Amino acid sequence: MSVRIAPSVLSADFAALGDAVRLVTGAGADWIHVDVMDGRFVPNITIGIPVVAALARVSALPLDVHLMIVEPDRYVDAFVGAGAASVSVHVEATPHLHRVIHRIKEQGAQAGAAINPATPLVALEEIAPELDIVLLMSVNPGFGGQTFIEGTPDRLRRLRDLLDRRGSAALVVLDGGVDEQRAEAVVESGADVLVAGAAIFAAANPAAALRAIRAAGERGWTRRPAR
Ligand code: DX5
Ligand code: ZN
Repeated sequence: MSVRIAPSVLSADFAALGDAVRLVTGAGADWIHVDVMDGRFVPNITIGIPVVAALARVSALPLDVHLMIVEPDRYVDAFVGAGAASVSVHVEATPHLHRVIHRIKEQGAQAGAAINPATPLVALEEIAPELDIVLLMSVNPGFGGQTFIEGTPDRLRRLRDLLDRRGSAALVVLDGGVDEQRAEAVVESGADVLVAGAAIFAAANPAAALRAIRAAGERGWTRRPAR
């Protein structure tokens, strides 16, 4: 296994999401990342349950749903029912992370905890062994096309240490501001899955951009320390 690429359709043309999914599928994407925002946890409103269901009808790839919403426990069943293969909820969004993570698993999806740039990694300490995914934000969530936060590779290394120490097999998904220039270093630092929105969908040639991000990520993968 090598690095996985998860294009975020947040930066795609919402009037042609099916075309966007087909394009990145043909270019070798591994997952489709779906950014759900509620205008409360983050200052933007995007995709909801019916759109996830529509994407599930056209996508042969797993839908990786990133919930940037308050009270995620109210909605995880519906998102899994709509076809999410994985659901990540923010550690900042619920006082009952353990319950929500287990609910996602009971519903038959992979369960992830997402964490904002300023939240101490220790928030993952107890739940780490039970996670399928840790989604580390490398921007403040809410919008596509933001600038990568510079301290992220160091944070990735510390996250890796935490997961190893806690015996967690969770995949590390890195989300925000990832492009071809960043991909190698973040994979070397511990990212297993690269989310990329603007770097793919705002590129003149999205398929070529995806392949370039993958090639850079694969170079980083070969330089990862053995675990
Ligand atoms: C930000 C979202 C990200 C974002 C990634 O709130 O969670 O998934 O869409 O897009 P880029 O790659 O444009 O930062
Ligand atoms: Zn996201």
